[in-house]
Amino acid sequence: MSTPTTPPLQILEAAGQKQTNQRERFEKVRTLVHPDSASASAALAGEVAALIRERSASGKLTVLGLATGSTPVPFYRELIRLHRDEGLSFRDVITFNLDEYYGLARDHPESYYRFMSDQLFDHVDLSPDRIHLPDGTVPMEAVYDHCRDYEHRIAEAGGLDLQILGIGRTGHIGFNEPGSAIDSATRMITLDRVTRQDAAADFMGVANVPRSAITMGVGTILEAKRLVLMAWGANKAGIVREAVEGKVTDQVSASFLQTHPNATFLVDQAAASYLTRFRFPWLVGPVEWDAPMKKRAVVWMARKLEKPVLKLVDEDYNENGAEGLLASTSEAAYEVNIDIFNRVQHTITGWPGGKPGVDDSRRPERSQPFPKRVVVFSPEPTDAFIGMGGTLTRLREQGHEVRLVFQTSGNLRVADGAALNFARVVLEMAESSHSPEWESQTSYARSIVEAIDAKGEFGIDPDFVRKLKALILRGEARDAASVCRLRYHDSQFLDLPFYESGRYRRFRFETADAEGVRDVLADFQPHSVFATGDASDPSSPQAIAFRAFAEAWAMAYGAGFRNDCKVWLYRGRDRPLEAHEIDMAVPMSPDQLEEKTEALRRFMSLNEDDLNAAARNRENAAVYDSLGMAEYEGIESFKLWKAP
Ligand code: GLP
Repeated sequence: MSTPTTPPLQILEAAGQKQTNQRERFEKVRTLVHPDSASASAALAGEVAALIRERSASGKLTVLGLATGSTPVPFYRELIRLHRDEGLSFRDVITFNLDEYYGLARDHPESYYRFMSDQLFDHVDLSPDRIHLPDGTVPMEAVYDHCRDYEHRIAEAGGLDLQILGIGRTGHIGFNEPGSAIDSATRMITLDRVTRQDAAADFMGVANVPRSAITMGVGTILEAKRLVLMAWGANKAGIVREAVEGKVTDQVSASFLQTHPNATFLVDQAAASYLTRFRFPWLVGPVEWDAPMKKRAVVWMARKLEKPVLKLVDEDYNENGAEGLLASTSEAAYEVNIDIFNRVQHTITGWPGGKPGVDDSRRPERSQPFPKRVVVFSPEPTDAFIGMGGTLTRLREQGHEVRLVFQTSGNLRVADGAALNFARVVLEMAESSHSPEWESQTSYARSIVEAIDAKGEFGIDPDFVRKLKALILRGEARDAASVCRLRYHDSQFLDLPFYESGRYRRFRFETADAEGVRDVLADFQPHSVFATGDASDPSSPQAIAFRAFAEAWAMAYGAGFRNDCKVWLYRGRDRPLEAHEIDMAVPMSPDQLEEKTEALRRFMSLNEDDLNAAARNRENAAVYDSLGMAEYEGIESFKLWKAP
């Protein structure tokens, strides 16, 4: 490995985040946390621009290692802006990408070459002969030489000055799946099951995802002079913590960054939320012991010691780093315990729309008005059922007027088989009818079958197939809604434009998306709103759908309904809320949980994680039980949203 040198400019480190010694005990690699991905990406683009300019000024080329995935998209957009508006030139830049799917030609819509062209190369003045990606089409017997050649080219260019990285859920960098050695070189690799699942939506079904890829090795990456790994959204929080605070292991290839002298993790708040300094800040330094902090610490301690809250004693506080909590108050553990116990207890309600005619001063939702107008936003059709299927049913059963708003059509999630089934039913009907009236239906159904056949391996659907898939999903969503007691007209389909014109990992918010949601709010005048996506990866449909809601909410500033409307956040595909974050816990009986699963079964194209929704509800219930609350079969949980 070459000796990495410190790059000339360290703009990120100038951001003023000092690493305390206490924190270093936990974080083994420099980690900068930004409020959101936009500000983090802008900071990194600023560093890269300064590096390029400085090297160009002294007649040197800059060698950049680039990454794909949704994570670097805002960074590339900022580079393009710097090029357009601030004259940043890429004439003196050479690029090497981390990886490419094996089997995909450059012009395939999901090839990384195509991705890079769309997201960066076509918009800046990079010279095409200075762009390098592994070639996914080299014959098997030539792969080894191709990989060696890739390494030579990097070395010939003088080595990577800066390598950009994302992180996969398996902890991979590039496509270095668990088991990749610290000194591995560029090579062919078989993709992990989890990685292929995560790419399923890109390829419209896991069956279409390539099984292998060519990737720079861990060793290749570690030879770069500087490494910056970006991660956004709550779903990355667990793996970021493992990579930053865990031990160095080939099971999490990103943990190898701990061994590099100039590596930085650049994360947003959601992706940082499992780091000790945020999750258990009292272990890292002094904290202000306000009510939420006390709840967080006591709940954590009870979980750690496997004791119900009411059984914690003074010694437990002192021996587990929470001595400051007791010192900050005149209360003994006994009194703090009762206070926190009651707080958690009061989050539990079987009346998510409020219970009429009772004192509501300690209930999560108010009694009046009753019944309420409740709007539930589901970014993709399955989200509301995954996150709050049981609560949906309760709201309807308790007499509220519920409107279930499906923000996007979700058609990219529908498997080919579903569209083929439909087409074949039509063809068989036509055949058995022997009537010329079926001619147009027959040719439509044939065109569906042909389009899907023509896609071949790794293909992409034309618009009319997407349209059919959207309608299939609509039917499933209505069916699932009816399991939750909703009537036909309680569902509304917005088909927000960002989804229809986009693809996974590169969706882009448009004002029209917020306008669609604004109209729903203005029309329905809700008393309570349920939404999700606040902590999702910023380019996911969930995050963009949430942004559409948040902007619509801002547009409704001054509207009467906003004065008396609570907004509840739920988690669908994202990591569940932790016990201390929960403001409302809606318990479920075994039958209710079974019914929720029944609603989910109405969707044909669910992945394993989605089907685990009931297991997550059971886990929530087990946590509440372990804290000393009543024991339920399942719990759906919610957090109050505070509009910025
Ligand atoms: C793929 C890429 C990685 C990327 C990862 C995460 O596996 N090969 O380079 O970091 O996906 O993707 P995303 O940024 O979309 O979460």
